[in-house]
Amino acid sequence: MKAGLYVGEKTVQSALIDKPIPGEGEALIRVAYAGICGTDMMVFSGKHPRAKAPLVMGHEFSGIIESIADHVSFKPGDRVTVEPYLTCGRCAACRAGQYHVCATLKCIGIDKNGGFSEYVAVPVDRLHHLPDNVSDDEAALVEPLAIAVHTVRRSNLKVGDSVAILGAGPIGLLIGLVAKQAGASEIFISDISPFRLQFAKELGFICVNAKETNIKEVVLARTDGIGADVVFEVAGTQSTAKQMVECIKFQGTIVVVSVYKQAPVVDLAAMHFREISLTTTRCANSNDFATAIQFMEKKLIDVRPLISHRLPIEQIKQGFGYMENTEISMKVLFHL
Ligand SMILES: NC(=O)c1ccc[n+]([C@@H]2O[C@H](COP(=O)([O-])OP(=O)(O)OC[C@H]3O[C@@H](n4cnc5c(N)ncnc54)[C@H](O)[C@@H]3O)[C@@H](O)[C@H]2O)c1
Ligand SMILES: [Zn+2]
Ligand SMILES: [Zn+2]
Repeated sequence: MKAGLYVGEKTVQSALIDKPIPGEGEALIRVAYAGICGTDMMVFSGKHPRAKAPLVMGHEFSGIIESIADHVSFKPGDRVTVEPYLTCGRCAACRAGQYHVCATLKCIGIDKNGGFSEYVAVPVDRLHHLPDNVSDDEAALVEPLAIAVHTVRRSNLKVGDSVAILGAGPIGLLIGLVAKQAGASEIFISDISPFRLQFAKELGFICVNAKETNIKEVVLARTDGIGADVVFEVAGTQSTAKQMVECIKFQGTIVVVSVYKQAPVVDLAAMHFREISLTTTRCANSNDFATAIQFMEKKLIDVRPLISHRLPIEQIKQGFGYMENTEISMKVLFHL
């Protein structure tokens, strides 16, 4: 079958490899579209602690069930997307039903071959049906949208709240779209890439170029010097880890979404005086996936404007090249 392979640091290539044979409890999926995520970029950089070449990356994908053992809800031919998480089922988090924070959480496309190939084997209990009116390309964004749903749920955002998002990458923008659904009154967003800020502007957010202006100045000016009710840190830098404390309102909630390459310094002293809540978020659960799919089905959230490139998997090198440059790309999808 056709595949896009990670073969070593900064090296991907198009290849023909054996079709996977699904194991017990797995279904075989014929992939339609698969998206490149920040985690794939980390694998590509050679810095992911678990990923080992040669590897088929890709954990954000849509497709059709090619084969599945007898199942009450799914059959061959069904259009699906997949929660890509591989969980142990035995740790305290798994037993509490919180499998997305499994103590030994693994992921399709990192710990085993993923969606940048014609076929992928996935656990049957991680499948989600796709409604007819959700297209294959937008369905490849169900996973990142589910992350955004989970993140906004973790924030306890309330109707009328003001929101600041630091980082207008795919995850930051999707958080903005979900926050709007959750009743945010005003959404500020910063980035250093004018190309990415243009997407944010078209989605109706108040944009700040972080190269020119500290977002705290804009947030404080527009909130009578009080700050935003909820701040999402989605850029993963030291300067945004500083700003998240500077733009939050007293008793507000900061949600750290970023996976930091280096642990940042955070001013906990400044937070204490204003009773700031600081929380984190990881992956998403089955409910978040169901909600993400519903948002697409009911046409409440359109993720398609975020897709900057659609390429055949044979062009995997170009795809990773585009994603390396935030001045020319947002979400890059491969079709299989
Ligand atoms: N919690 C989770 O489960 C989860 C899931 C997916 C992604 N993530 C993390 O979320 C973060 C965002 O993901 P993404 O895919 O959107 O990544 P991304 O790299 O595409 O987006 C980050 C954005 O931050 C911008 N940025 C850089 N420096 C900045 C600054 N000083 N001020 C403002 N913006 C700045 C970049 O230009 C970029 O557009 C990453 O750290 C990623 O690892 C976490
Ligand atoms: Zn991802
Ligand atoms: Zn577990």
